Amino acid sequence: MTIQDFIPPPYTKMIENASVSYQSPSNIALVKYWGKHGEQLPQNASISFTLSNCKSETTLDFEKKTKGGYDFKVYLDGHREKEFEPKIEKFFNRVAPYLPFINEYRFVIKTQNTFPHSSGIASSASGMSALAMCLVGLESQLNDPKNERLQNKQYQLQKASFLARLGSGSAARSINGPLVVWGAHPKIKGSSDLFGTTYPYKVHDNFSNYHDTILLVDKAEKQVSSTVGHDLMHNNPYAKQRFEKANSNLEQLISIFETGDLDSFIALVESEALQLHAMMMASSPYFILMKPNTLKIIDSIWGFRKATNSQVCFTLDAGANVHVLYPSSERQQVQQFIKNELSIFCKDGSYIDDFTGTGASTI
Ligand code: PMV
Repeated sequence: MTIQDFIPPPYTKMIENASVSYQSPSNIALVKYWGKHGEQLPQNASISFTLSNCKSETTLDFEKKTKGGYDFKVYLDGHREKEFEPKIEKFFNRVAPYLPFINEYRFVIKTQNTFPHSSGIASSASGMSALAMCLVGLESQLNDPKNERLQNKQYQLQKASFLARLGSGSAARSINGPLVVWGAHPKIKGSSDLFGTTYPYKVHDNFSNYHDTILLVDKAEKQVSSTVGHDLMHNNPYAKQRFEKANSNLEQLISIFETGDLDSFIALVESEALQLHAMMMASSPYFILMKPNTLKIIDSIWGFRKATNSQVCFTLDAGANVHVLYPSSERQQVQQFIKNELSIFCKDGSYIDDFTGTGASTI
């Protein structure tokens, strides 16, 4: 597939006004994407678990207008969010070549998240993928109903991931699940820089219904925006080695997924999280995105693992919150441990239990 495949032929149908609604989850990367080039293209391949509970629910109301610029309003939880509109405008500019209808309609975008806005959980992956699903849902109604390629569900999901990527790179991995690769990798069939693809090989039962409890250490806005963070990789002296390491880690995961080797999984996933943060510490200017409680949690997880032989581990996004990952067979004991020993390190004791899911769907 090339970008040309996402430019549609002239639309054959005309709709005056209607509405579409989709929900799409967040995802948590196991091998991280950090560093990009060109138009939202990743410097290395990444892979993530798609989540279930942390999601955005978006309704797109649209009505025909005479041509001209974009016309849209954004509502979050029922309130107009002018703050989001520059980001959406940038997104519309990027997707316009692939969605020629975009300046022919007036849009109202109504969105809500199942997780609190001020939780420090990035809503861009779920939000951008839900909006991309809505736009593709609308486009499928404008396209020739007899055109099999354009009406094919697989193609539409691919296009949604392609568009979501233009809003936020990691959003490309939220359309499908439970394991999604984004970024061309020679060992992963079908993988592409343009969109996310469901991991195509055998995955051991140890990884089914994998759990992720997100510990909310810091609920403040991100200290460093991802745009700034990705840009810092351009001058990071370790960038080249990091991109190579990410790709070799992804290759290593293929046999780990096949055999269900959780010890190797833990070592790889924790190292990935720390490398992401190491990149931030080695940037100029440098940042430490972990908080003291992030380290206390990591230390407790290591202590618990040693004491109980549990296969719980952690990963991090570009912030202070900790994602606690564990197989579903350990659900009870790990959730007890979180409640008893980790929740004290969370802001207001808050955390969110989640597990792997299958991606976006209509509401
Ligand atoms: O999707 P962005 O541009 O916000 O980048 C996010 C990157 C990380 O969340 C830090 C890692 C990843 O691969 O999801």
